[in-house]
Amino acid sequence: MAAQISPIFSTRTTKSVNDELLVPGFDSQRITKYTTISFSSHLNANLSIKSLETRRRRRKQNYSKLVTECYSDQMKLDTSLGPRVNSVNPSKTVALIDETAALLEAGVPVIRLATGESDFDTPAVIAEAGINAIREGYTRYTSNAGTLELRTAICKKLKEENHISYTPDEIVVSNGAKQSTLQAVLAVCSPGDEVIIPAPFWVSYPELARLADATPVIIPASISENFLLDPKLLESKLTQKSRLLILCSPCNPTGAVYPRKLLEEIARVVAKHPRLLVVSDETYEHIIFSPAVHTSFASLPGMWERTLTVNGFSKAFAMTGWRLGYIAGPKHFVAATGKIQSQSTSGASSISQKAAVAALGMGYAGGEAVSQMVKAFRERRDFLVKAFRELNGVKISEPQGAFYIFLDLSYYYGMEVDDFGLIKDSESLCRYLLQKCQVVLVPGVAFGDDNCIRISYATSLSTLQTAVDRIKKAIVTLKPPPAISL
Ligand SMILES: Cc1ncc(COP(=O)(O)O)c(C=O)c1O
Repeated sequence: MAAQISPIFSTRTTKSVNDELLVPGFDSQRITKYTTISFSSHLNANLSIKSLETRRRRRKQNYSKLVTECYSDQMKLDTSLGPRVNSVNPSKTVALIDETAALLEAGVPVIRLATGESDFDTPAVIAEAGINAIREGYTRYTSNAGTLELRTAICKKLKEENHISYTPDEIVVSNGAKQSTLQAVLAVCSPGDEVIIPAPFWVSYPELARLADATPVIIPASISENFLLDPKLLESKLTQKSRLLILCSPCNPTGAVYPRKLLEEIARVVAKHPRLLVVSDETYEHIIFSPAVHTSFASLPGMWERTLTVNGFSKAFAMTGWRLGYIAGPKHFVAATGKIQSQSTSGASSISQKAAVAALGMGYAGGEAVSQMVKAFRERRDFLVKAFRELNGVKISEPQGAFYIFLDLSYYYGMEVDDFGLIKDSESLCRYLLQKCQVVLVPGVAFGDDNCIRISYATSLSTLQTAVDRIKKAIVTLKPPPAISL
């Protein structure tokens, strides 16, 4: 358009408008561009100089108004957020996290039994593979779904250890099991679909469902049932809208492991619902204490077609910081998760993928290095179960895997301490224990069961011994509130 007007006119007009709009501190470049484009776009050979001058004057007035508004106190930046982020709930443990941070800042030696990661180092053979990848310049993008080398190794592992057959194009490697789970939910759920989540659940599941505009439907499983989903209850909750069931075994936060027979019963219920898919989160698969045995849901008759198996390297291989996970399932669904990934993070770290190939090469279920870690977790589990069984009123379901114990301490709710006040729920109990004995635990409410608290035993036995001593001493000082005489 600018080419249609005479150079003299163009220069004069543009210059005068620009000069008048230069305001210190304002984004002069942006407004110049805007002015020039919008002004010139109205030019054509039929416009008289007079009418152009009139337009110019009007424009000038409008721009002055705009600039005044920009500087006025009345103009407020729109800081509202999208509905998707508003649908996600903030952490239920904010107060506890804040108090812990304050104690740490003040130099108080708190014992943290809240972390969800192994205290062991990444096995040397895995770390070396990562270092070699860097040294050899293996530092470029990989394909979105992950290297063929790693996906082939994952297929071999799933065949040998889990008895499920996949081809590399039925695997998408991601930056962790969490990302794989989110992508699965996004890939298959429509707004309003229901995502069935047995409670106690890993904190992220309901929020991942909300991110997909789906509705989390929580089905409680009680400690007397070892926190395992009752298939009859599941059946009673399924509707036309039920799209996804998320199973987690071994389970965070309970350590429960689903026995094969129970999974078969669940599979029979699932099979009656043509819309229902299953995400089987097997992140803690290798951290399991015999005689418990891990069963992959996709290996059950008729379940391969509708199961998305999620797994990763974070927990068993002590690789949380390497950020590597994967999903395996029918190509139609898995490719859809890959599509989402291709427009967000793309392929996972090339270095981590080399390290993961080394991890899978360590032998069946991680070989000796992983079995040593599992042995240590088992010792700690045994210690905690024994120690807490001595405590009056506590209910325990002995964990069969993962590195958490989920204790029912609701017996102590309603009790009081002089310098703290009333223990009314899992949150106040955890805050009390933090203040009284500087031990950080996670309230069960965060996992959908307010009767319990979660202890992570991904820390040394001696630390656990000190923590348990302190917790027990703090708990026995709790007293029932004085009876109110009427
Ligand atoms: C049950 C469960 N699934 C998935 C994850 C996420 O693991 P990743 O580090 O692979 O994203 C966690 C992490 O705490 C978890 O507990």
